Amino acid sequence: MIKLLNYVIFPVHKPDFYRLEQRLLHKTILITGASYGIGEALCHLLADIECQLILVARTSDKLQSIQMLLSAKKAKIKIFSVDLREPRQLDNLISYLQAFRVDILINNAGISICRPIMQSLDRMHDFERTIKLNYFAPVKLCLALIPRLRQCRGQIINVSAINVLLTPTVNWAAYQASKTAFDQWLRCASAELEKQQIKVSTAYLPLVKTRMIESTKAYRRFPALQPVQAAIIISHLLLTQKRHYKPWWTIIGQIASVIFNGVWFKLNLYYIKRKL
Ligand SMILES: NC(=O)c1ccc[n+]([C@@H]2O[C@H](COP(=O)([O-])OP(=O)(O)OC[C@H]3O[C@@H](n4cnc5c(N)ncnc54)[C@H](OP(=O)(O)O)[C@@H]3O)[C@@H](O)[C@H]2O)c1
Repeated sequence: MIKLLNYVIFPVHKPDFYRLEQRLLHKTILITGASYGIGEALCHLLADIECQLILVARTSDKLQSIQMLLSAKKAKIKIFSVDLREPRQLDNLISYLQAFRVDILINNAGISICRPIMQSLDRMHDFERTIKLNYFAPVKLCLALIPRLRQCRGQIINVSAINVLLTPTVNWAAYQASKTAFDQWLRCASAELEKQQIKVSTAYLPLVKTRMIESTKAYRRFPALQPVQAAIIISHLLLTQKRHYKPWWTIIGQIASVIFNGVWFKLNLYYIKRKL
């Protein structure tokens, strides 16, 4: 039953591999957050293509094991371990990238925090770490790479969340504010970037079964994509360079967000009261 529900809610089909291969042949693709979850699944998906993947994340052991595992595949894999929240480390990554022609930036690294405001009164650092990773880091990377992306008519793909298009939900202030910030930044920039021959695509993903959602008990029963399905969605954006991916039911959610805004607010209140 869950399988059928997942199939209806998240119909995901593999793209034509030959066309994907032609599109990415000899391209250099930078993937942030490549060590786990969606980023890791994407590395496996693209490894059969003759291209260069630059994998970025903090956990160097994990990056090394992915590099080893994929060493017999067609893609050439480079790894760079960095905490993207740290300005100096981010600068080191940008210097390292000078040696490459980066054709595609996939902004995927992210953290989420699910915590009520009343439990966050002494936790300003939650808001700082989400904004640093989910907003400042991709902005800085984009600013550094735009000149080179322009030269090679490149692409920026942002791995975003469907939540940024819907009514805000209780407990997700830090995460949603930071994801929305970069989504807005990129949407503001996208016409200018398009004029510079840089394509901009956003994957507005629903829930994906990765370690990111493991600690949120309520999500264990929710239908969710598998990481490989999310990677397939990103590969469609690589192939088609479309402006965005959203699940087909997003429009229903958006209309409901407007019409039932008050009801949703009351549901949030009810949820908080039950938790107290
Ligand atoms: N899972 C979902 O339900 C869902 C839904 C919609 C959108 N998304 C988005 O999908 C993206 C990937 O998330 P995921 O679900 O695959 O989560 P994940 O399994 O936790 O992976 C997150 C990735 O980001 C990297 N990362 C975290 N903090 C970092 C830092 N300070 N510096 C550098 N890299 C860092 C992690 O590597 P290290 O820990 O090794 O640094 C890891 O590779 C995120 O942008 C998330 O917002 C997820």
